[in-house]
Amino acid sequence: MIRVIRSIDEMKQWCREQTGDGCSLGFVPTMGALHAGHRSLLERARSENDRAAASIFVNPTQYDDPEDLENYPRTFDADVEMLESAGIDALFFPSDDSIYPTDYRYRVTENQESELLEGAHRNGHFDGVLTIVLKLLLITRPTRAYFGEKDWQQYILVRDMVKAFFLDTEIIGCPTVREADGLALSSRNVHLDPEQRKIAPRFHSILSSGAEPGEQRRQLEAAGFEVDYVEKRWGRVLGAVRLGETRLIDNVPL
Ligand code: PAJ
Repeated sequence: MIRVIRSIDEMKQWCREQTGDGCSLGFVPTMGALHAGHRSLLERARSENDRAAASIFVNPTQYDDPEDLENYPRTFDADVEMLESAGIDALFFPSDDSIYPTDYRYRVTENQESELLEGAHRNGHFDGVLTIVLKLLLITRPTRAYFGEKDWQQYILVRDMVKAFFLDTEIIGCPTVREADGLALSSRNVHLDPEQRKIAPRFHSILSSGAEPGEQRRQLEAAGFEVDYVEKRWGRVLGAVRLGETRLIDNVPL
């Protein structure tokens, strides 16, 4: 049985106990609504460490749109089932007020790469992400923490934050898990209607085409997407698009 821990002190203690005898601890932070993309991270954490833990916390500070936060899918029972079947030992599931005891007066700000791409389109997003990830890493102090390459900018910002603050956690990037037609798995995909779901895989195929970003943007718009950005950076091409209310992000190596 997985141990579900709500209290910060209890989670700190549990993690300390796991690693006390030189055992390694793998950790996967999530916002729940778990799918096969999350599962790949969980399985890696499980196979590469003596103990494995995950967290579910829909972090309010990384949302600039209250409706987006409100509509985020919440599927706790199914999530616990997946965590158990992946062999995760403990789930950290804190409440909002316990994680922000001083509201949001203290936060982590990166002031260069967080302002590009996702950061330019989602006000304050990476302050919220880096702040919650730092809190979670300080509570759990894992040997390794696992992040998906689907959120490439998040992955590199977290990796560099760990370097900046001398945390003793290795950040591991994990390949993007996709549907058979190329669409990157995302908790948001459930909001696509059948017509949008048919168009959605074009996002990945156009990003992978090798055409210049300007040309890719034109092709995406012609396919029916609203385009937030398509840009080359960090040896990759990264994009964010919208189909109706649903926002999708993806990236591929150049
Ligand atoms: P969430 O969207 O739940 O994602 C949790 C982790 O799963 C992230 O590292 C994300 O990159 C990874 N992931 C999501 N879809 C994936 C896919 N198709 N293939 C591989 N990995 C995938 O990202 C967050 O939560 C939050 O920002 C968080 C880091 C938990 C901080 O609140």
